[in-house]
Amino acid sequence: MTLSLEQLRRCAVAVDLGAARTRIYLKRVGLIVDEPTVAAVNTRTGGLIAVGSFAERMTGRTPGHIMVVRPVSGGAVVDIAMAQRMLRQFVGDKVRRAWRRKPLLRAAVCTPHDANPLAQRAAVETLTGLGAKRVELVDTLVAAAVGCGLPVERPEATMIMVCGATTTQVAVLSLGAIVAAEKVPVGGDTVDHAVVQHLRNEHELMLASQAVRPLHLVMSGGAGTVEAPEVHGRDVATGLARSVRVNPDGVRAAMHTPLTAITDSIGAVLRRCPPDLVADLADRGIMLAGGSALLPGLDSILRRATGMPVQVAEQPDVCAVMGLGAMLDGNVQPFDLGPLAT
Ligand SMILES: Nc1ncnc2c1ncn2[C@@H]1O[C@H](COP(=O)(O)OP(=O)(O)OP(=O)(O)O)[C@@H](O)[C@H]1O
Ligand SMILES: [Mg+2]
Repeated sequence: MTLSLEQLRRCAVAVDLGAARTRIYLKRVGLIVDEPTVAAVNTRTGGLIAVGSFAERMTGRTPGHIMVVRPVSGGAVVDIAMAQRMLRQFVGDKVRRAWRRKPLLRAAVCTPHDANPLAQRAAVETLTGLGAKRVELVDTLVAAAVGCGLPVERPEATMIMVCGATTTQVAVLSLGAIVAAEKVPVGGDTVDHAVVQHLRNEHELMLASQAVRPLHLVMSGGAGTVEAPEVHGRDVATGLARSVRVNPDGVRAAMHTPLTAITDSIGAVLRRCPPDLVADLADRGIMLAGGSALLPGLDSILRRATGMPVQVAEQPDVCAVMGLGAMLDGNVQPFDLGPLAT
């Protein structure tokens, strides 16, 4: 089914349900929610204890009867009921009451490129449960390209890479449509997980994924240029708290393994592109979006691997929902959105 910009302008709300964060944009208002996609539940009563950043802070610190859950994984809603309860909390009573008064509430949702019918269905059901009578699905790559301010409507190639928590998507667009695209199951969380595994194997130290962020800085420096960072964790054997100074080169090598899949995806897309479009990209380069675009040094790794210019978007983490929001508000140059499944 083909979706037009005109249909999108009839939507009142834009939603980006990510594995790490949920973003909601209200038409003509702006971004009203940017919170971790996390809920904490009491397993004895089934009651919701907290959502968003408060629930995320509970991760790894809960007593037995409280469970911290993530209802979205790999770009798809895996627990529809929990996602709906979480979203209800996020939007609050005032917005919910306003939606109830709207007889034909339409919502637009970002879906990963090439999302399977089950994932599409889950996204639609999540929003219909919240009162939406119609749900329009928009490819995250198109939404993010618009959100980064790329001239998607022109007959020239633009390249966008959206590097999220568990998924990285890359596409070449021209005339508002995707010419070639790739999706790999690797993102910022995958990189953090690789570092956690490395510390466990090399230093017998257990560390929470959230504690890895200070180690990201080793990626931006070359070999031998960064001082050995100190990390605090739990000894695998004794269970006691322990600190170690880690070798930055080892951490960098651990991070590079998942990043190779990301750099390879760029080559795979370019190989499927007509030569004229690839020539456009030699000057314009790649626009980097998604929360993991904030990984220090990721842009230079991509620049080195591809030989192309790489630019990090102004607000890379919210590009997709802001792009969708701009389409709702009618703040984009007209273009044909191309075929989209709904
Ligand atoms: N300042 C930062 N430095 C390093 N990594 C960051 C930073 N900010 C966010 N990230 C990483 O970005 C990822 C979240 O990005 P984003 O918000 O785009 O994910 P998402 O849309 O929820 O996930 P997905 O699109 O994969 O479903 C996390 O892995 C997080 O660790
Ligand atoms: Mg995302």
